Amino acid sequence: MNQKLAITLRRAIETLSAAGIDSARLDAEVLLAHVLHTDRSWLFAHPDHILPPKKTTQFEQLIARRAQFEPVAYLTGEREFFGLPFFVSPAVLIPRPETELLVETALARLPKTAARVLDVGTGSGCIAVTLAVQRPAWRVIATDISAAALAVARKNIRRHGVSARVLPVQADLLAPFCGTVDAIVSNPPYVNPRQKPKLSPGVRDFEPHSALFSPDAGLAHVRRLVSVAGRLLSAGGLLLVEIGAEQGEPALASARALSPHATFAIARDLAGRARLLVGEYRHSL
Ligand SMILES: C[S@@+](CC[C@H](N)C(=O)[O-])C[C@H]1O[C@@H](n2cnc3c(N)ncnc32)[C@H](O)[C@@H]1O
Repeated sequence: MNQKLAITLRRAIETLSAAGIDSARLDAEVLLAHVLHTDRSWLFAHPDHILPPKKTTQFEQLIARRAQFEPVAYLTGEREFFGLPFFVSPAVLIPRPETELLVETALARLPKTAARVLDVGTGSGCIAVTLAVQRPAWRVIATDISAAALAVARKNIRRHGVSARVLPVQADLLAPFCGTVDAIVSNPPYVNPRQKPKLSPGVRDFEPHSALFSPDAGLAHVRRLVSVAGRLLSAGGLLLVEIGAEQGEPALASARALSPHATFAIARDLAGRARLLVGEYRHSL
């Protein structure tokens, strides 16, 4: 049956609210705009638009999945990061606004001229691609242990026209690399597996666990990166690793113990939460 847009939307908002979705209105609007290949402002301007039955069915299927807490980004296949659209799939972590601090810090700390950067655990490729788009003279190697994640990264590399300067490589952290780079950046898995029951269902039940969890209270990947970064960083090279808000002190203590030739600090966000481990490697090891 043909239905008016406003009625379909109201029903969807009711369904999502009843399921306990806090952002019911926004999510319903984003999903309807996605199904109609339009934007949310068009919906507001056309409340009496008659939806073809096929579109109504498609929308209702997405609303049913959202009511089970499947993230909107997986339903639309896209998420914005640093002002750019990125393809996402359940093979990759959905890019987070918090990670923009890592990108801002890399852009501020590294020379604008030719730099070589390694992005470890690239997932959707959001960090590697953004750096390459922002700095046309940089070359970036984007690694991930997951072949499925790298397939998504490759799509984003092509989408943003940086294939000539961003090289995707399947690797376990830094294992296959030799030579030197000016910076290693990474948003590694850092959630303490013990926190799993406390995660929201959208994260816990849908995002890849290999992108979320790390042993040793969430710090195993961070520690491994700190231990091996010196081998690849040029003198004066920079290591930027995203960490959890509670991990500032333990990450700093581990880093100083594991890599005494480097200088480490914690960068915080505007709310004062620890967000980045910043290492300067004065000596190549
Ligand atoms: C937290 S996600 C970050 C994804 C993306 N960089 C972002 O910021 O949205 C961590 C990524 O690290 C990858 N990963 C996990 N263990 C790894 C390892 N040992 N070596 C390389 N990548 C790894 C996961 O597959 C996942 O894509």
